Amino acid sequence: MEVVLLPTPENCGRVVADALQAALARARDRGTPPVLGLATGSSPLLAYRELVRRHTEEELSFADVTAVLLDEYVGLPVGHPESYREVIRRELTDAVGIDPAQVHGPDGAGPDPLAAGPAYEELLRAAGPVAVQLLGIGTNGHVGFNEPGSSLASRTRVKTLTEQTRADNARFFGGDVDAVPRHVITQGLGTILGAQHLVLVATGEGKAAPVAAAVEGPVTASVPGSVLQLHPRVTVVVDEAAGSRLALADHHRYVLEHKLADQGW
Ligand code: GLP
Repeated sequence: MEVVLLPTPENCGRVVADALQAALARARDRGTPPVLGLATGSSPLLAYRELVRRHTEEELSFADVTAVLLDEYVGLPVGHPESYREVIRRELTDAVGIDPAQVHGPDGAGPDPLAAGPAYEELLRAAGPVAVQLLGIGTNGHVGFNEPGSSLASRTRVKTLTEQTRADNARFFGGDVDAVPRHVITQGLGTILGAQHLVLVATGEGKAAPVAAAVEGPVTASVPGSVLQLHPRVTVVVDEAAGSRLALADHHRYVLEHKLADQGW
């Protein structure tokens, strides 16, 4: 696992954009259209802004990209501004020219959410390997919407949110916790492990404890983010605040300083 500690959230956004861009290039080098695993929440937004900038100012192309989302709320109607499909369209995919038909997420608006998980697994299998999966982390250590207690081998399925996560996400619903759906469909932890590269981004002091638990604590369903320790290629990008509880922070800074010139992300 590579842990990259950087001074500011803006630095983090640029490095995450670098990692995503590198994964696109690797997929193209292999002759496969890139599949980009996207996350919502506030953590990835600076990276998305940077990718949009590179698209508009530096001609970074997304024309051949398929985008797959990590998770979705159950019960928000299609087009609801806080449905993750809508959020990702607004924050990234429209602006970088990804065909809406090539943007996929679990179907949380349909009549049968229980069938949506297996259907999404099927779609992911058909789309081909995810070149890079971007992740945030919740204050309770969740990734995607895999709340504490989620099986480390889980696949896409319906989950019930903790009250903590609903309270954390109320800010996207005008501060009204009752407006935050109780149920979600999320890629499972086992599904996430299937991506070729995992990039987790976290900023701010509120993420210091979950980051330390996920990166340095025991691998446990009680901290779903700790599943990252089972993946062979993980990049954790944090600002100094989010990395402030890492016991090995000095070592990570040392490694970054001495990174080989062509090592990349
Ligand atoms: C949300 C999302 C996660 C996200 C996490 C952190 O509930 N389902 O994918 O990583 O919580 O959100 P934020 O980045 O806004 O802190």
